[in-house]
Amino acid sequence: MRVARTSAEIRRQLKPLRAGKTIAFVPTMGCLHEGHLSLIKKARSAADIVVVSIYVNPLQFGPNEDLDKYPRTYDADSRLCADAGVDFIFHPETLYPANGPKVTLKAEKLSDCLCGASRPGHFDGVVTVVNILFNIVQPDIAIFGEKDWQQLAIIRRMVSDLQMPIEIIGAETVREADGLAKSSRNRYLSDAERAYAVAVSQALLAMQKLAESGETDIEALKNEANSILLAAGIAAEYLDIRNPVSLKNKRKLNQQPARAFIAARVGETRLIDNMPVLTGHANTEESL
Ligand code: PAF
Repeated sequence: MRVARTSAEIRRQLKPLRAGKTIAFVPTMGCLHEGHLSLIKKARSAADIVVVSIYVNPLQFGPNEDLDKYPRTYDADSRLCADAGVDFIFHPETLYPANGPKVTLKAEKLSDCLCGASRPGHFDGVVTVVNILFNIVQPDIAIFGEKDWQQLAIIRRMVSDLQMPIEIIGAETVREADGLAKSSRNRYLSDAERAYAVAVSQALLAMQKLAESGETDIEALKNEANSILLAAGIAAEYLDIRNPVSLKNKRKLNQQPARAFIAARVGETRLIDNMPVLTGHANTEESL
C-alpha cells in the first residue's frame, strides 16, 4: 500500500497504472469503521486498483460545527486500509488554496431538505471536495455509503449533471447486532444513550413493516415511528418519507419508490439513518 500526501504525488503514482486497469475510489474523512470497510470491500471486488482518500474537509463544516474536534485516527485508519487490501491512500494536508477556494460547487435543490435544512452549505462543501477528489483520482467507480443517503443522491446527481464518466455505487448500511447503523459518532454515546439509540432503526423498521402490511397513509407510518422514538425519550429532528432520487416529500405511499429518513439527537450525539419502505417493490435503490 502506498501513501500520497499531495495531489501531484497521487497523480504521479496512478498515472502508469491507468492503462487497461480500473480504479475504484472510496472518499472518507477517516476514523474508519466497519461501514467504511464494507465500502472498501465493494471497491476491491469492483476494480483492479483501490484508492481511499482520508481528508477532513473544512468546507463541509458549519460555523457551529467543531472541525477541530472531528476525530483524526490516521494510524489506525492506515492499518485498517492495509488489512483491507487498499492499494493507495491519498491523505492530503489540504486541498484548497491558502485563503480558501474562490470557485465552489452548489448542490442546489437536493440540499435544502433533510440534513441540508439544518446544515446550510454542508452539501456545497461535500460536492466541492468530491469534485476536486474526482479530478485528482479520476476513478472509474466511486463508492459511497447509503447511510448518508442524501449525500449519495446529491453525488449521483452531480455526476449526472456535470457528465462525469464515473459510476457511483451505493453500499448498504452496516449495522450493529441490534440494528443501530454503524457510525463514527456512535463512539460519543454513553452506555445508557447507546441502549436508547437503537430506537432510531427500530422506528424505521416499524414504518417498513407497516407499509408492507398495506398501510399507505404516510402520517400513520410517521406516528408509529414517532411513538417508538418518544418511548425512548428521543425527539426527531426530522422524520420524513421521501422519493429516494428527487428527495421530494411523499404524500401517500403508492407503487413508486419511497424511503424513510430520521435524524435525531441522542444526548449530544446527532444520529441519522434511513431505510426503504415497501422493500418488496422493485426500483427502490435500483432506480437510482
Ligand atoms: O461521507 C464523508 O465521509 C464525506 O462527506 C466525504 C464524502 C468523504 C466528503 O468529504
